[in-house]
Amino acid sequence: MSESAQQTPAHLLDIDDRTPAQLLALLDLASILKRGQEVTPLTGRTLALLFEQPSTRTRASFEAGINRLGGSAMFLGPEDTQLARGEPIRDTARALSQYVDVVAIRVEDHDDLVEFATYADIPVINALSDRAHPCQALADILTIREHVGTFDETTAVWIGDGNNVAASFTLAAAAVGINTHVITPPGYELSPEVLERASALGSPPAVTNEVPPSIDHADVVYTDTWVSMNEEDTHLNRAEKIADFDGFQVNERLLHSSDASVMHCLPAHRGEEVTDEVLEGDRSLVWEQAANRLFVQNAVMLSLLNDDATDLTAQQTLPLGRAL
Ligand code: CP
Ligand code: NVA
Repeated sequence: MSESAQQTPAHLLDIDDRTPAQLLALLDLASILKRGQEVTPLTGRTLALLFEQPSTRTRASFEAGINRLGGSAMFLGPEDTQLARGEPIRDTARALSQYVDVVAIRVEDHDDLVEFATYADIPVINALSDRAHPCQALADILTIREHVGTFDETTAVWIGDGNNVAASFTLAAAAVGINTHVITPPGYELSPEVLERASALGSPPAVTNEVPPSIDHADVVYTDTWVSMNEEDTHLNRAEKIADFDGFQVNERLLHSSDASVMHCLPAHRGEEVTDEVLEGDRSLVWEQAANRLFVQNAVMLSLLNDDATDLTAQQTLPLGRAL
């Protein structure tokens, strides 16, 4: 389990802060919201978005999402708070807890997220850290369920960096029973800790450093940028890292004997981890993934802030979060 698993409130710092049953209930609630069913709103509730890094999808989907639920969002960018002048994150956590009901945080260092959650009295949602991206992973497995129709018998291939998105996707896939293969260059594997957590969830991925001549028998092939935001300042030689990924591009040659769909959390670097042809082609699920961010995040916020949320799901007895 991740560091926050035993804490209250029910922070969502990574996928395994929820049980597999709770994850499935969140997907069910997201699907209900996507169909347009009205819910008891979050009128008067405020979401703070505390972001150290840029964002298009996460910020916009959280802001639009809580507006749809009748609440409001407060965006706090890197230069907007006293964090920029060195105020400790634990002080920021205790102050924000006085004003808002829930906070989504994007940090360069996952330890800062854990520290914030430790000191916050309100639920904390990970909006991306260097180690995890659970909101993305929820959207990804919802997209797979919608597209493939099932998790059993579904095979997902991750090819590229064993990064934050790979880690949370692997955990989400393990939780719902998707068969996962993770293909990374040497030195860029998923961490042993993530593999242990995936094992604890029941379905650890098969891992390899070898790219097969073609991808066969996969339902989806997933990739992400080779250089993540947290590395842009610290990775001394971007070109060197990109060179390490030679042969790991998702392109039509790799997929020539496969009818797999292609996933990418975005933003994509066309010509690096994926070709423009594949990203813009019929295989691409990237816009469905982006769309589903809003619905899974609204499900998460409802589960945290609205005790009636479980009544909307088919499995009414399944607890979705802390109070349910
Ligand atoms: N996928 C994702 O989190 O995108 P943003 O960086 O635009 O939020
Ligand atoms: N791995 C990427 C994901 C961006 C949504 C990054 O951390 O920059």
